[in-house]
Amino acid sequence: MKDGPVNDGLVGDGLVIGGAVVARACVNIALIKYWGKVTPARPEDANIPAVPSLSLTLDGLYTETRVSFAPEAEADIFLLNGDPLDEGGVRRARVILDRVRDLADVAAPFRVDSVNHVPTAAGLASSASSMAALAAATARCAGLDLDPGALSELARLGSGSASRSVFGGWAAWEGRRAHQVAPADHWDVAVVVAIVASGAKAVSSRDAMNRTATTSPLYRGWVAQAPQSFAEGLEALRARDLDALSAVMERSTMRMHASALGAAPPVLYWEPATLAVVRAVERIRSDGVSCGFTMDAGPNVKVFCHGRDVSRVTRELSAVAGVARTITARPGPGVSIRVISEEGS
Ligand code: PMV
Repeated sequence: MKDGPVNDGLVGDGLVIGGAVVARACVNIALIKYWGKVTPARPEDANIPAVPSLSLTLDGLYTETRVSFAPEAEADIFLLNGDPLDEGGVRRARVILDRVRDLADVAAPFRVDSVNHVPTAAGLASSASSMAALAAATARCAGLDLDPGALSELARLGSGSASRSVFGGWAAWEGRRAHQVAPADHWDVAVVVAIVASGAKAVSSRDAMNRTATTSPLYRGWVAQAPQSFAEGLEALRARDLDALSAVMERSTMRMHASALGAAPPVLYWEPATLAVVRAVERIRSDGVSCGFTMDAGPNVKVFCHGRDVSRVTRELSAVAGVARTITARPGPGVSIRVISEEGS
């Protein structure tokens, strides 16, 4: 698969009437975190970040979304893994569909069939991959020929982090859209996800971010230091320096979580096993193996390491009490699309 949107041209340019568009987008993990938004003045300003972020798109963990016009339907139809999408998901997805209708000047409802190929309970938020795939498929279905930057802006409206899943490899996101800073083959690194057994229901990243911004006295400090971490992260990535990248990634992670811990009521995503994995990473590192951790809006820990160290890191993390399983992923491709003609070819 190529980086960036691909159109195999089956139906040509313009509206896809009768046929459908299938888009695939992978999840991404932020090394330098997005946490907090600028207050939007207009609907198309939704999810503009207060801080710059840097991410890696992961191979093999993706959402595939099929979009077609549904002229007979009274409203948009949304299915996820064959079942009706929940209310929150519908609300986010509809922002993208409405924006596409505006841009393309069409009024018809869409039918959206989405399938997540992200292991359930993997704790890897699939909102980034699903909103990126939805944006790509819907835009193409409505005949919009968006470049990757414009597609990133559209995906951002559904979920901020989706702006980065448009791109393969390493993506930076500042302001309205993300861009690729290095392709997937820039560097042979891997991410080992340590899945921590947890019954606790997480606060959504959206709610937690808002709560942090409005109630945490630490939020201001978080925003102020973020550009420095971002610059250091970019430099370490360009130099392929995993020790430097791990140090700044862990700093960004801890400061993000610290700002959330300062909210009222506090947002605490970690379980005891989360910290046990953090300690294991420190131990592995003191044995001379380069690696670094990051955590998002949940208790699981994502550990970056060199490709050659995957078995060692996986073995050590699997042995930590409270780790239910691990998943390994490599740098992955950007969003891709396929147009299916009426005959289904
Ligand atoms: O875009 P959202 O609402 O899924 O927020 C993502 C927030 C974090 O995963 C915690 C950090 C990030 O940059 O992805």
